[in-house]
Amino acid sequence: MALFATKEESIFNGATARRDFPIFTQKMNDKPLVFLDTAASAQKPKVVIDALQNALNDNYANIHRGLYQFSQKTTTQFENARGKVARFINALENEIVFTRNGTEAINLVAACWGRTRLNPGDEILITALEHHANIVPWQLIAQRTGAKLIVAPITNEGDVKAADVIALMNEKTQIVAISHMSNALGTMLPVTEIIQAAKKINAATLLDGCQAIMHESVDVMALGCDFYVFSGHKLYGPTGVGVLYGREQLLNAMPPYQGGGDMIETVSFDETTYKMAPARFEAGTPAIAEVIALGAAIDYLNAYGMNNIAAYEEGVYHYALEELNKIDGLTLYGRAENKAAILCFNLRGAHPSDVATILDKEGIAVRAGHHCCMPLMKRLGVTGTLRASIGLYNTRDDIDALVAGLGKAGKMLA
Ligand code: ALA
Repeated sequence: MALFATKEESIFNGATARRDFPIFTQKMNDKPLVFLDTAASAQKPKVVIDALQNALNDNYANIHRGLYQFSQKTTTQFENARGKVARFINALENEIVFTRNGTEAINLVAACWGRTRLNPGDEILITALEHHANIVPWQLIAQRTGAKLIVAPITNEGDVKAADVIALMNEKTQIVAISHMSNALGTMLPVTEIIQAAKKINAATLLDGCQAIMHESVDVMALGCDFYVFSGHKLYGPTGVGVLYGREQLLNAMPPYQGGGDMIETVSFDETTYKMAPARFEAGTPAIAEVIALGAAIDYLNAYGMNNIAAYEEGVYHYALEELNKIDGLTLYGRAENKAAILCFNLRGAHPSDVATILDKEGIAVRAGHHCCMPLMKRLGVTGTLRASIGLYNTRDDIDALVAGLGKAGKMLA
């Protein structure tokens, strides 16, 4: 199994990297696996699976609590992973909070930042293409505080124009919470322009990076956002761990999310005092092995280089776009100029679930449905679509298999 590309392959090659992922030795329905659902969850390289196993095998113990060697060693590994995450997105270690997933990271900001900063009549600005994780937490805090959810429109091409978002900003806007990249359409949002405009009116900014994080190099300092969230399992790491980046000053001004062990300084029945971030937001025993394995995923990606991976994926994506465009009766949703890795489409006269079921029989995994974006589906005038999403291990052969599978589905369902 190729652990890393050889020196001759300084430019990233998905066909080689694919060998790092044990799952591709498996068959699905007796067919070679064509995995085109990375936007839902990425497959795991062996180095991540090994790291997870080693974290449980070698010196497992709870962290931050034991004076014995194994606890100290595990604590060091856990905190090293925090450092890896911080360097991966150009943040400080104290600015990285580990959560259960990306969804919990947004809920944390909505609950803790929102509780103290939102008042009746204040506005929370999102866009029409957000997935439910960046809608519902804001609705919940709006209901509790009397704030209002304001939704910036998208174009018929599924694009978000910075001007349309900026036009909705005013003195009542307290936070602008938007996707960095759409999970359903692949649209890359004009986040830099939006963040700069939000700063001018002193609104906070949150970027939902659950999709963007695996397709490009992210630098939170350059972006200038206040919060950035993503999940570990989409970054080729394990489930059960998410990341919240928050500017240190903002995090330390926020009340805790949950109460419990490891987030306190002192506890009495009269009063409890809390640690500074990130510990303040990490009550209870965290996902120790998963965090360590997320660190291994980041090492893995760094060894190839995110820019090399992004350049490779772009080639596969454009090939897929060209090939799908040739299919008679296929409607592509989302034609934004700046778009990557995700193809959202339907076949004329065919229900997406029926198509996905036929593709499954061919060993092809895609997602069918509303992609956790019911309001976006309504805007597109559909109840659901098919979605093929590209990861670093996908090749043009995978796209050819998808096109053949769609041809078969088209004939069967005609
Ligand atoms: N948010 C994930 C997706 O887009 C689950 O499929």
